[in-house]
Amino acid sequence: MSAISLSGMDGIEFATALQADNATRLVPLVLLCDEPTKRLDAIRAGASAVLSLPVDVDELRARVGALSRVRAVTSELESAQNVVFALATAMEQKDSYTEGHGERVGMFSRSLAEHIGLKDELVHAVQIGGLLHDVGKIGIPDRILNKPGPLTPDEFEVIKRHPVAGWEICRHLRSLGDATLHCIRNHHERLDGTGYPDKLPDSDIPITTRITTICDVFDALATARAYKPAFPTETCFKILREESERGWWDKELVEAFIEMMNERQLFRAINRAKLKPLFARPPAPPSDA
Ligand SMILES: [Fe+2]
Ligand SMILES: [Fe+2]
Repeated sequence: MSAISLSGMDGIEFATALQADNATRLVPLVLLCDEPTKRLDAIRAGASAVLSLPVDVDELRARVGALSRVRAVTSELESAQNVVFALATAMEQKDSYTEGHGERVGMFSRSLAEHIGLKDELVHAVQIGGLLHDVGKIGIPDRILNKPGPLTPDEFEVIKRHPVAGWEICRHLRSLGDATLHCIRNHHERLDGTGYPDKLPDSDIPITTRITTICDVFDALATARAYKPAFPTETCFKILREESERGWWDKELVEAFIEMMNERQLFRAINRAKLKPLFARPPAPPSDA
């Protein structure tokens, strides 16, 4: 099996090693196989194509050409994704209060998804959804985003556009699945249907989006913003429980979140330097988190 032998690895081991590393998992790999029974193993290991020995040179050339074209398109898509991640970072840096917010919401979301036993694919989806959930704020004027006083109804309407704006930015990225896009568009929905932008009922809010919402609300409560102080962790838990009693958040998921945070002590991830109170208006509802 295989024309490749590196450090004693055969072709299947080499393909497996490439797949295991994010830096190389998209590199096209053609394996040459002299045992028909191993063709399936080679494909399962991540080979982009498997050719039989003796090799037909014209077929090999054609396969390599086709895979190179696919790789070029994939690289463009990866670049587009990098631009969106850069946008999310740039957006957070517009406001020192929210710096690291997306990263923490992504980390909390991943941990909660793991804690309740979601499959790996959904764990990844909520981590990326958390990271990018507020990317739509990039289009909100700083004077509104960082306003230390109460927002006017018109200003709040502008803030409320950010989930759809973020979804519009991200929906063209094929690497983001439906679960992640839903987290971005619908992280301000409430189970009683009073959230935004789509006023979704309980039955239309998947577990992945519920996770993003709870982690987002917690981080907004636990850190200082231009309009509110940072609340102690226990106060944040109490508010989450009260709001779940009110019908906003998933009660069981809030309890699982609190259990996970206590087990993993993740609240230490919040940058204590950002917790100083510097605020002029009374605490706002977490709906503009
Ligand atoms: Fe948001
Ligand atoms: Fe947020």
